[in-house]
Amino acid sequence: MIHKTDGTLKDRLSKGDNISIPLFDVVMGITHAMDLVCEELVDHHKRVAYIAHSIAAALDFPKEQQKNIILAGLMHDIGAFSLKERLGALRFEMTDGQRHAKLGYMLTKDFKPFESAARLIRCHHILWSDEAGEEVPIGCYILNLADRAAVLMDDRKALSAMIRDIHQRLKKNRGTMFCPDLVDVFMEISNDEEYWSKAFSPSVYRILSDELSLGLVKLDMDGLKALARLFCQVIDFRSRFTATHSRGVAASAKALSQLMGFSDGESLSLEIAGYLHDLGKLAIPSEILEKPGKLTYEEYRVIKSHAIHTHNVLENIKDLATINSWAALHHERLDGRGYPFGLTGGELSLGCRIMAVADVFTAITEDRPYRKGMTSQKALKVMDNMVNSLALDGDVVSVLKYNYDYLNFIRTAAQRKAASEYKQFQQQVQ
Ligand SMILES: [Fe+2]
Ligand SMILES: [Fe+2]
Ligand SMILES: [Fe+2]
Repeated sequence: MIHKTDGTLKDRLSKGDNISIPLFDVVMGITHAMDLVCEELVDHHKRVAYIAHSIAAALDFPKEQQKNIILAGLMHDIGAFSLKERLGALRFEMTDGQRHAKLGYMLTKDFKPFESAARLIRCHHILWSDEAGEEVPIGCYILNLADRAAVLMDDRKALSAMIRDIHQRLKKNRGTMFCPDLVDVFMEISNDEEYWSKAFSPSVYRILSDELSLGLVKLDMDGLKALARLFCQVIDFRSRFTATHSRGVAASAKALSQLMGFSDGESLSLEIAGYLHDLGKLAIPSEILEKPGKLTYEEYRVIKSHAIHTHNVLENIKDLATINSWAALHHERLDGRGYPFGLTGGELSLGCRIMAVADVFTAITEDRPYRKGMTSQKALKVMDNMVNSLALDGDVVSVLKYNYDYLNFIRTAAQRKAASEYKQFQQQVQ
């Protein structure tokens, strides 16, 4: 069978390579996807980043700190997994933000370039008058003020009325919820309509990015893998049903690609694509992902949209075009009846075909809280049928068949490890 080649990656990426990642753009893309989860949240992370940065800049914070405040603003609610939690955080007087703040910290703290931002995320719901019992960085109070100001933004009001209302609320809580000096600085810089027109603009992030030349961050392949693993946890931990899914897909895809002759660098790239393949699920309310029983037509349509969201987020990263194609095309079929693009066999590279098999293999064999995974016999029968109906690639499924026990061992081991991390993670926030 002739496969379309796997892009330029074969020539470019090997294990020791450095890749230039527009880290801020990547983070922006991912949290933008999180904000698509419902209308009220659209642009929330961007707005918080903009307001928080404007305060830090007015206070003449060093550039590095300003960048960390932007990163923290762009990611601050990354630990709020359910729509209910996200919407709850839109109430101005919310008091239960500590859980998602701590989860956000735990998710981001181990990736070096996020270390400082993680510390800010951890305390972004600490109030000025709270007895924190520890020293809280000023950036946390800035983030809190920016977050509360952002939830008061309302484009149904005239700008002048909205500015007046926001200022009144902040003034009323000056010295209790908010640090008095920060309220004063904020009132001064946010007194004109232009400030808020920018805050409402969908391109507010672009404005920030140009001003600060946020630019590219160099990562080696291991750094890229660590970043992908971090986002894999954000994706998978949102639902206990799929808490280990992407880790299983990544391990299976990597092992299959090794058996099919991919180089070390390519296999690592496929593993990374596996961590990221369901990235677009961040845009799907977890209430739909976890819905017991039959989905409505509309809900099914929403779930299917995750593939195009994965594609759109990863598209921002030029160096990762091939990883994007391997990740985002995992629901395409050889007969052209898959999604998001309805590509046909000739357009689907071997990497995509491996990812599709790894995804189905993991999905049907993994245990979920509401059902046991399939036995090998049953799983192979299902996949044979999918080969016959031109959903999956026959060559890849043959390799899986001949190495079933090995691949199943690899998948199970990876998912067992992920399950124990998930458990630890849950225990720490209880
Ligand atoms: Fe929050
Ligand atoms: Fe927020
Ligand atoms: Fe998927």
